[in-house]
Amino acid sequence: MEFTDLDLGNFYRVLAPRPTIIVTTVSPDGKVNAAPFSFTMPVSSKPPLIALASVPSHHTYQNLEQTREMVINIPSEDILQELWITSEKFPQGVNEIEKAGLTQMPSKKVKPPWINESLAYMECQVERILECGDHNLVIGEVLKVGVRKDAVKDGLLNVELVKPLLHLGGKDFVVGDHRKTVDE
Ligand SMILES: Cc1cc2nc3c(=O)[nH]c(=O)nc-3n(C[C@H](O)[C@H](O)[C@H](O)COP(=O)(O)O)c2cc1C
Repeated sequence: MEFTDLDLGNFYRVLAPRPTIIVTTVSPDGKVNAAPFSFTMPVSSKPPLIALASVPSHHTYQNLEQTREMVINIPSEDILQELWITSEKFPQGVNEIEKAGLTQMPSKKVKPPWINESLAYMECQVERILECGDHNLVIGEVLKVGVRKDAVKDGLLNVELVKPLLHLGGKDFVVGDHRKTVDE
């Protein structure tokens, strides 16, 4: 096999496809914001912690710094176009859930709403924020997880049915719709 060097600034493009989330937050004056993120990972199961990396100029990040709550929504293939609309740069205070024609639902533990068209959602409280290069790492504690009943089978995401979206880069995504199991 021959190998070639990739531009360092694009190193993450070979760490792909990446799970993609839509993060909902609220500003101090209660305005709802939503935006997609694919720099995300679980970091602890006890306590349940999840991280995402955001450019500090994003409204999402500014809301997280100030109000310290978020909902992480897991989108499926069905809402790819809507997800793309939430990624547009709207002025501060514009509700991207409404712009995308998605449905917001009241959360139980936090102020930001969850998105009804999601496969699953996690209500989270910001645990800590770390400065990391041109992104900042936001670590949240998961307080509640809701999942569509048909989205899980035997305790795993039922990918044959619900097709999560994985980000390849730019406008390209992979639809996670089949599983491969290790041989005995
Ligand atoms: C699929 C996808 C994944 C993205 N992932 C990230 C990410 O991980 N971190 C980030 O800072 N921006 C990411 N972005 C860009 C933001 O979603 C985008 O700049 C958005 O307008 C930010 O909105 P806000 O200012 O309302 O928070 C991503 C965009 C898309 C379409």
